[in-house]
Amino acid sequence: MAFNSRTVNSSTPKSSVEREKRATPGMTDVSKTLFLPLFFRAQETREDGIIRDQAAVDIVDRLQYDNQNFRVDREMQLIISLRTAILDRITRQYIDETIKMGRQPVVINLGAGLDTREYRFPEATWYQVDLAAPITLRQQYVQGSKATNIAASIFEEGWSSQIAHRDHVLVLVEGVLMYFGAEMVRKFFEILSRDFTHVTIAFDALAKRYSKLHAHQSIDVDKAAFKCGVSCGTDVEKMNPGFKTVEEFGYYQEYLSHSEMLQKRYRLIRFDATHKIYLMYKK
Ligand SMILES: C[S@@+](CC[C@H](N)C(=O)[O-])C[C@H]1O[C@@H](n2cnc3c(N)ncnc32)[C@H](O)[C@@H]1O
Repeated sequence: MAFNSRTVNSSTPKSSVEREKRATPGMTDVSKTLFLPLFFRAQETREDGIIRDQAAVDIVDRLQYDNQNFRVDREMQLIISLRTAILDRITRQYIDETIKMGRQPVVINLGAGLDTREYRFPEATWYQVDLAAPITLRQQYVQGSKATNIAASIFEEGWSSQIAHRDHVLVLVEGVLMYFGAEMVRKFFEILSRDFTHVTIAFDALAKRYSKLHAHQSIDVDKAAFKCGVSCGTDVEKMNPGFKTVEEFGYYQEYLSHSEMLQKRYRLIRFDATHKIYLMYKK
């Protein structure tokens, strides 16, 4: 299945460089990484794998952005699919518990890119926060969305005041924090801690010592390097003692729970303690 499979018309740029420019107007190098999880979730869905994200398939079909390199990065497809499955479970649990408490579930997705989890959990109120160019792309491609889109940097003041719900919320930060250094991450947790109460946050992190080893194979690594300002929940607890780790989710454990299916589809697999998802809570 080709990423850019449909017939192109005469106004379609022919070279992949031109296509990239057209698909990513005004985007930072980190923002351009948003195509990776989108593409891999679509690919995993097409292969009838461990996640179902038909909305990602539909967006990929409509996008005129063909990055042949993505197709060879099987390890990243597996990691992103496992991450998606874990974060879906966390979202499910938060929503069920919040509804049981008689509250409206609110999910705030930071660095949202073209993530489509909101379609899988329509019972929640959604906020999607990203920089201006990805939000414009979101408005164009995530059709029928009921979410509130906010164009802002999560490392600067201002984004939180645009969110009407700031109590008992779930914050998801998926595939974002590893691109930023410690000072920016500290500032982010400071804003979150100051402006929200009873906040549950789930984010993925990469152990610092492995950041080079696990550099992306499918994009220009110098442009979107892993800086790993936060590499585990303990780092956050030191930066901001209000936050406590509730649970850590290892990708390998997730792999094992689908291993029968995954072993047939993926040859590899080099797992260690480098990739984890942290679930933290602050009163
Ligand atoms: C690898 S993508 C992940 C996208 C999405 N979370 C997903 O899993 O599909 C990283 C995202 O972080 C966003 N991002 C980068 N810098 C940001 C900032 N300062 N504030 C908000 N979002 C930012 C990018 O625009 C991009 O959408």
